[in-house]
Amino acid sequence: MSKALVAYFSASGVTAKVASRLAEAARADLFEIKPETPYTSADLNWQDKNSRSSVEMRDASSRPVVAGKVANMGDYDVIFLGFPIWWYVAPHIINSFLEGYDMTGKKIILFATSGGSGFGKSVAGLQDSSPGATVMEGKLLNGNPAVAELKDWVDSLQL
Ligand SMILES: Cc1cc2nc3c(=O)[nH]c(=O)nc-3n(C[C@H](O)[C@H](O)[C@H](O)COP(=O)(O)O)c2cc1C
Repeated sequence: MSKALVAYFSASGVTAKVASRLAEAARADLFEIKPETPYTSADLNWQDKNSRSSVEMRDASSRPVVAGKVANMGDYDVIFLGFPIWWYVAPHIINSFLEGYDMTGKKIILFATSGGSGFGKSVAGLQDSSPGATVMEGKLLNGNPAVAELKDWVDSLQL
């Protein structure tokens, strides 16, 4: 397989857990996309239309700042990009992450966790932030999949 990176954002730890298992399954490096200003539980309250996440997700141009960078992005051909589904799509910090690099020629495979929703229009929203890359809807990884199951999925992608 080409050299792979698992990059993920996780606000409450669910995606983080599956991301580290996926990195093991894919023998990939792991990078956490951390917001410069962490999300508090009040920020994550989707029932409050004035919470930080509600305000950001209503504004298509919001780009929460990412702390830190992948130093050797040029080394990777494949990026597994993971996030929780927020309002039926990827959180806008995922757009911020992608826009911080030249992703031309890379294959970007999405994975997500959610309360049940699928990827919705995530691919279209993220493709715009990574011109020249191929963004693929990968898999919803709900239900705590084991490393062996994740490995089967990675193998099936024939990267
Ligand atoms: C602001 C916000 C919006 C959410 N929107 C959705 C949604 O549209 N559909 C859904 O199924 N789950 C939604 N969820 C639930 C998360 O996707 C789910 O709990 C996820 O596994 C959290 O992952 P994390 O712990 O890595 O942050 C939302 C959660 C938050 C905080």
